[in-house]
Amino acid sequence: MDATPAEMDVAMLDGGASRTSERLRGYRRALAGGAVMLAFVTLAIVIGGASKLARHSGHQRPVSLGPRSSRATYVYISFHGNHRRSPTQDQGVNQIYRYTLRPAAMAASGVPPDAPVHVLQHVLGEHTRLLRGMLLEPATGDLFVANAYYDDSKVLRFGPCEPNGSRAFVERVAPRVQDSRLVHPYGLALLDETLYATTQDTGSIVGVRVAERDRALEHSLEFGRAGQKVAFRGLASFDGCLYAAEEGSSSVLKLCDGVLRASIHIRKPIGVVVDERRRLLFVGSRWRKRPRVAAFDLDSHTTVQEYTLGRMTHPAGLAVDGDRLYVAEQDALQVLEFDIPSGQFTRVVVDDLPDDPEGMLLTTC
Ligand SMILES: *[C@@H]1O[C@H](CO)[C@@H](O)[C@H](O)[C@H]1NC(C)=O
Repeated sequence: MDATPAEMDVAMLDGGASRTSERLRGYRRALAGGAVMLAFVTLAIVIGGASKLARHSGHQRPVSLGPRSSRATYVYISFHGNHRRSPTQDQGVNQIYRYTLRPAAMAASGVPPDAPVHVLQHVLGEHTRLLRGMLLEPATGDLFVANAYYDDSKVLRFGPCEPNGSRAFVERVAPRVQDSRLVHPYGLALLDETLYATTQDTGSIVGVRVAERDRALEHSLEFGRAGQKVAFRGLASFDGCLYAAEEGSSSVLKLCDGVLRASIHIRKPIGVVVDERRRLLFVGSRWRKRPRVAAFDLDSHTTVQEYTLGRMTHPAGLAVDGDRLYVAEQDALQVLEFDIPSGQFTRVVVDDLPDDPEGMLLTTC
């Protein structure tokens, strides 16, 4: 267990476009100066959280809980957007593709199993570019998508799944203001009706009250670390807490009520997903020396299982369904499936992806 978040400052800011812009300008100045020295109001730092963690650490749970049938039928993939695999498309695959998890059933229906459905209908008046994290809003079935293009960073909302599998554009959720801290968003998670997005460029996790008409209620959890860039990646939420992968500190930060509760150490973390039933946090690591997906107990923060495969050198998006763990693999350009209890690799779900996969989501339609 590595619970030493003391080196990071965390601050929470509410609303206030002017204040946000001030801070962003400050951030840019710091960047320009070559030294990223972010000094934010420190609201709460948990130093030496070992004693608190000890309180939280319950008994060790076995990974296996007995079989539970999986429910998802499809997998959504968003793509990095480069030329490597799609030289005819200058932005790579600028779309979310839907693939089936059950090719046999698809083959029986006469639909080519490897033909992806284009999920996003044409977006009028908005551009999509560099799509990353995705999230389904449980209440509405709507899809949120992080659009990471630097000059046009935003989160877009698409409506429910239509009979042909596509979704209509609904609105741009964030940002409301030009100088929002939402720059280069990556992961998305919902917590108490607030949609949070991690950012790779501003050291922030930006929260937007998606239920509110007036989205001025944007607030940010901000992080500073002397001399080093803070680059957030995947994000998950569970039981009142956010789990945010941060590459610079090689850790997943556990934030509960805006307070840094723990820092789970793992090199080069990218994707994170919570298995609620097993109370496990899966984290993908693209650390060259030991790439893997590790499963951490949510209470003790210790590793309970690891998932590896020779060609799995850059795991990106992760998803769980029943006893299955799915991994979007950027170097192999595949979606891989593992058996959660045993740790065994079981099959390639999608092969020969047309661009580097980033986000992944399981759905029923
Ligand atoms: C799916 O249906 C919607 C209308 O419901 C339409 O706008 C869209 O173009 C269709 N997509 C495909 C791929 O046929």
